[in-house]
Order: sequence, then structure tokens, then C-alpha cells
Amino acid sequence: MNEMYDMSIVTHNFGVMGILGVILVNIVMLLRAQNIRIYAKKMRVFMPIGATMIAVILFTGSVMMAAKHLSFTVENIIMIVFGTLMIFFEITRYKKLKHLDLSEENHLQNYKSAAMRILQFEFFVTLAISVWMFI
Ligand code: HEM
Repeated sequence: MNEMYDMSIVTHNFGVMGILGVILVNIVMLLRAQNIRIYAKKMRVFMPIGATMIAVILFTGSVMMAAKHLSFTVENIIMIVFGTLMIFFEITRYKKLKHLDLSEENHLQNYKSAAMRILQFEFFVTLAISVWMFI
């Protein structure tokens, strides 16, 4: 069991760093977006990478929870809630892009500010949880 826990915590950390990296790349791509169609094409390629990183965190977290016989700490509960919320935020961000009304004036700017709020929230909460776990 200990080996499973030890291996998962290392992979969990790489998953967390991967998530932070994916969010930063998403923010840069969003800031540089000038054409919504080109941006949407890039997002269709890049979103599965983000989804994979979230899956790595959820999977390794679940393995660790099993290894420690489901003895939940406050930190674990907050991580699980936020890990699940992150899926919801990513779906919301993608749905906003998919159902964007291109005839609307400023559709790109409106999408950018809505998506940026989601990405900034994801970034700061992930960073806050990580700093908290390492303190
Ligand atoms: C985005 C969400 C998450 C972030 C940012 C995050 C971050 C972290 C960090 C930084 C650590 C410390 C690693 C270390 O000490 O080397 C950790 C440990 C841990 N995480 Fe997460 N995590 C997340 C989601 C989850 C989820 C969804 C679960 C459970 C399903 C989970 C379960 C755990 C467990 C069990 C530990 C080991 C500490 C302990 O035994 O309580 N995490 N996490």
C-alpha cells in the first residue's frame, strides 16, 4: 500500500504542475486570440490535454485515498470539491465558446473576459491548494 501511496503522490504533484502549466498556456492562447474560429480550432486540440491532467489528479488522488483507507482530511475534501468543480468550469468555458453568437458585436472580447475569469480562478485556487499542502 505504501508503494502505491508514494508513487501516486509523486504523480499527483506532476499532475498539479501539469494543470498549472495547461492553465498558463490557455491564458496565453486566449490573450493572443484574434480570430474566434482559429482559436476554437486550437482549443479543440488543446482541451483534451487539460482534461487528461485533471484525470491524472483525480485518479492519483483516489489511489492515495484508497491507500490510506479513505481517512479524509479537510485538505482532501477541499481538493476533491475543487477537482470536481474544475471539470464543471472547463465544460462551462468550452460551452461558452461552442455556443458563442458570432453575429454579436464584440463576441471575441466578451468571450475573452468570461473565459479569462474562469482561467484566473482555476489558476489561483490550484496554486493556493498547492501552497497550502506544502506549508
Ligand atoms: C486541482 C485539484 C488538486 C490539487 C491542486 C491538489 C494538490 C495536492 C498537493 C500539492 C498535494 C501535496 C503533495 C505532497 O505532499 O507532495 C496533494 C496531496 C494529496 N492529494 Fe491532492 N490535489 C488536488 C486534487 C485531489 C483530489 C481530487 C484528491 C482525491 C481524490 C486528492 C487527494 C490527495 C491526497 C490523498 C494527498 C496526500 C496527502 C494526504 O495523504 O492527505 N487531491 N494534493
